[in-house]
This record gives sequence, C-alpha cells and structure tokens, in this order.
Amino acid sequence: MCPLPLAAAAVAAAQTPLRLLNRGLAATMSTARPLKSVDYEVFGNVQGVCFRMYTEDEARKIGVVGWVKNTSRGTVTGQVQGPEEKVNSMKSWLSKVGSPSSRIDRTDFSNEKTISKLEYTNFSVRY
Ligand SMILES: *[C@@H]1O[C@H](CO)[C@@H](O)[C@H](O)[C@H]1NC(C)=O
Ligand SMILES: *[C@@H]1O[C@H](CO)[C@@H](O)[C@H](O)[C@H]1NC(C)=O
Repeated sequence: MCPLPLAAAAVAAAQTPLRLLNRGLAATMSTARPLKSVDYEVFGNVQGVCFRMYTEDEARKIGVVGWVKNTSRGTVTGQVQGPEEKVNSMKSWLSKVGSPSSRIDRTDFSNEKTISKLEYTNFSVRY
C-alpha cells in the first residue's frame, strides 16, 4: 500500500480550484515560453514501490502534464510535457530520485521535441 504524499492529499482536498489554476497557468505558459515533450522509461526496482503515485505527485508539484504507467517488462513508462525547465526538473527526478523505496538503475528518454501546445490537461496514472 502506498502512503498518500501530503501534496496529493492537498490536491484531493482542493481539486476544483487547483484544476482551474492549472488551466490558467497552462494557457499563460504556452504563449510565454517554449514547451517540450519527452517520453521516458525507468528501469530498476520500480514496480510495487509506489513509483507511479510518487511520479504523479511530483509532476503536479513541478507543474508538468502527461502520464505514467507500468509495463509488462517491469519498467515504468510515460510522457512529460511542459515548459523546458520544468520538464528538465522532472527528467532529473525520474533519473535520480523516484519513490522512497524504489531503485532506479537507468532512465531512457526519447522522442524529445518542442511542441506548440500541451496535449494533456493534467498528469495522470494510466492502467
Ligand atoms: C503495476 O505494478 C504493480 C506492482 O508490481 C502491480 O501490482 C500491478 O498489477 C501492475 N499493473 C499493471 C497494469 O501492470
Ligand atoms: C486528466 O487527463 C486525462 C487525459 O488527458 C483525462 O482523461 C482526465 O479526465 C483528466 N482528469 C482531470 C481530473 O482533469
């Protein structure tokens, strides 16, 4: 079982106002600075260690959108989109931090590109 990180609890408690705020931010960001999109796959001990939940929580804290899911290969994969420096912060977290009981051996990034508009409204866990 995954302990709920504090920020996730706060998000759950204030979901509607936060979602509106995120939408406003996304609109501002898309005109202000270049947006990036990148795919990732994390290798190591990353399943059964709350990795997806912590990824979702961190993405929301940083302010990027996209998704995360398990693969049948025992890895965690997904996509991150947002302003370049926020995407870079998320890349660093996905390479070096992860959830408290995970062990990251390596993280592959692919399909990195500039986009004109975010393709997601939030960051979510896919099943
Ligand atoms: C994801 O990983 C967890 C832990 O290994 C497992 O319980 C769950 O069934 C997996 N989900 C999918 C969609 O593979
Ligand atoms: C989050 O994004 C997904 C896919 O982009 C969408 O299906 C879902 O409704 C969104 N959830 C919220 C709470 O906005």
